[in-house]
Amino acid sequence: MEFTFEPNRPMKHVDRKALYTRLEARITYLRDFLDFNSGDVEALVAGSKYIKALIPAVVNIVYKKLLESDITARAFHTRDTADETPVEEFFTEDSPQIQRRKMFLRWYLIKLCSDPSQMEFWRYLNKVGMMHTAQERLYSLNIEYIHIGACLGFIQDIFTEALMSHPHLSLPRKTALVRAISKIIWIQNDLFAKWRIRDGEEYADEMSEIIVDEKEGYLGEKKILGDSSASASSSEDDRSSVHSGTVPSSTSACPFADLAKPASETKIWAGSN
Ligand code: HEM
Repeated sequence: MEFTFEPNRPMKHVDRKALYTRLEARITYLRDFLDFNSGDVEALVAGSKYIKALIPAVVNIVYKKLLESDITARAFHTRDTADETPVEEFFTEDSPQIQRRKMFLRWYLIKLCSDPSQMEFWRYLNKVGMMHTAQERLYSLNIEYIHIGACLGFIQDIFTEALMSHPHLSLPRKTALVRAISKIIWIQNDLFAKWRIRDGEEYADEMSEIIVDEKEGYLGEKKILGDSSASASSSEDDRSSVHSGTVPSSTSACPFADLAKPASETKIWAGSN
């Protein structure tokens, strides 16, 4: 194998220990690696109304999925996916307990539409990650990573399909929005995984402490919810208004499915045969 040396090539330094001991350093590294930039922030700010319009449908679809298998549905009874105690009667989507939890997921998704240029945004995502790993003293919650990763992938897929099939948004805006959301979801994925993986465990004593208010729906902040209406209406997109999301009755997870035109070629595929 041949190596080419470039003596003057600039090289960024990343402090390994800081990745495990300082949340800000970890976020800076991930944002830089994923090239999460001002273009992504702009896309999210401009597109937040489209995301908000989708939230009620996304929440319903996610809970439908989580209640489909006993291993995930059981967690709403036991708070622990490793606890295989048989459950006599599983909650349904209409159970008050599930309705309440749907509200938490709605708050979370609304929070995802807030300002990612603030460190507080990432701290919140980190707390959500931590609270699923049985580290809270009261009301401990243990959701094993396999379900978290699958669920994040599922959420990403719903957003991708829904936004890409939006009837009136231009392709560049759809693309920008889907890319920005994907980057956030991948950083959220890291902020779930980092509580589970053993990398950097030699720094365990120095890992920054996070104090989480154990009251439900609060997660260490006064109030997560800024805007109580998750189904914010959207009045000005590229052509006209977007339909606010409701659960589709068809098998498709896409709230815009009925309105979607046949998929057109995107730039990346154009010209390739
Ligand atoms: C994949 C991404 C996920 C996100 C972003 C997420 C987010 C959240 C949030 C924001 C809360 C409420 C926190 C609060 O008290 O304010 C919560 C609680 C909870 N989550 Fe998740 N979650 C995810 C995956 C899962 C999965 C896969 C399961 C089950 C298999 C699950 C089960 C629960 C349970 C049981 C609670 C506690 C609800 C309660 O205290 O009544 N979560 N989650």
